[in-house]
Amino acid sequence: MISFHLNGKETRVDADPGTPLLWVLRDHLQLTGTKYGCGIAQCGACTVHLDGRAVRSCVTPLSMASGKKVATIEGLSETELGKKVQAAWQEVDVPQCGYCQSGQIMAAAALLKEHPHPTDSQITDAMDGILCRCGTYNRIRSAIRLASGGEK
Ligand code: FES
Ligand code: FES
Repeated sequence: MISFHLNGKETRVDADPGTPLLWVLRDHLQLTGTKYGCGIAQCGACTVHLDGRAVRSCVTPLSMASGKKVATIEGLSETELGKKVQAAWQEVDVPQCGYCQSGQIMAAAALLKEHPHPTDSQITDAMDGILCRCGTYNRIRSAIRLASGGEK
C-alpha cells in the first residue's frame, strides 16, 4: 500500500510500486483528465505535479509519489492558480481537439508557480516538448502571458 497526498487528500493505493503513476491515476483512481500520449516521456500529455513540479506521469513510478503531494488537472482547477490559468485559456480560446491540454495547463501552472511573471524564454523552457498535434502553441503562449498579468 502506498500513500500520498492527491489533490489535497490523503490517498492510499494498493498497486505494484513500479506501476506508472499515470495508470494509477487513470485506472485505480478514475482521474482520467491526465492523458496517455506516448508512454515514453516524449509528449507531455501525462504531465502532473509532484511536490509542485511538473513531471511526466507515464514514466514516474508510483513509488516516487510515496509521501509526496500529487496534483492533477482535476485538483488544479480547484485552486486560485488553476482558476486563473483556466480563465486565460478560455479567454484566448486555446484548445482545438483538447487532448494535449491538461498536460499543457499543468506545465503552465508549474511555470507560473515558480515564475509568476515568466519571460518568453522561461515560457519556452517550461513548455518545451509538451506536444500539440493541433498546433495551438501560439495561443498557449498568449494564455500564459495573460495568466501572468501581461498582454495576450
Ligand atoms: S504519455 Fe507521458 S510523455 Fe507522453
Ligand atoms: S489541442 Fe489537439 S493535440 Fe493539442
